[in-house]
Amino acid sequence: MLKYQVVYASRTGNTQKIAAKIFETLPGTSKDIQKVEEAGKEADVYFVGFWNDKGTCSGSIMDYLSELHGRKVALFGTCGMGGSREYFDQVAHRVEALIPDDNEYLGAFLCCGKMPGQVLERYKMMQEVEDSPRIRKMIQVYEEGMLHPDEADLDKAARFTREVLEKLQKA
Ligand SMILES: Cc1cc2nc3c(=O)[nH]c(=O)nc-3n(C[C@H](O)[C@H](O)[C@H](O)COP(=O)(O)O)c2cc1C
Repeated sequence: MLKYQVVYASRTGNTQKIAAKIFETLPGTSKDIQKVEEAGKEADVYFVGFWNDKGTCSGSIMDYLSELHGRKVALFGTCGMGGSREYFDQVAHRVEALIPDDNEYLGAFLCCGKMPGQVLERYKMMQEVEDSPRIRKMIQVYEEGMLHPDEADLDKAARFTREVLEKLQKA
């Protein structure tokens, strides 16, 4: 049985970057990284990664998590609407609740991930109809997200991975 399995869903590559960093940080050779459609369920420790789909993970990750039993599971994810710790915590808790109780939960790492250009185009169209503080804020959040995940996010993902490994050693 594999020691570590990194599994992820990623439409535009943000979550894939975090997945690759986590995989690279994991020690030894008993490890694998797969997109959720191709991933098995024969490892001891799982790092499951998702992109934020309307406040939670996408259906493929929901299905994958629901089938994990008796494993150790850490989560990671990227959100277009980043920047707020409370929001990240909220999303992490929502996805954590999808992990069956007979698994051991190891924590979550979330960071910001840039959104596709069409989102900005939509915001700009909304702004032409009505230029409100709310739409200006949405454009600001979009622009702040444009550079993520960046090197600092990848460093944090590596740190998170090491913290999970320490937790496993203590257990
Ligand atoms: C259909 C759809 C819904 C989304 N819903 C949210 C959301 O509710 N909150 C959020 O922060 N980001 C949301 N996003 C943005 C993505 O989660 C974000 O850009 C993410 O980093 C994409 O990851 P990927 O590059 O791995 O696909 C949504 C994106 C799409 C396409």
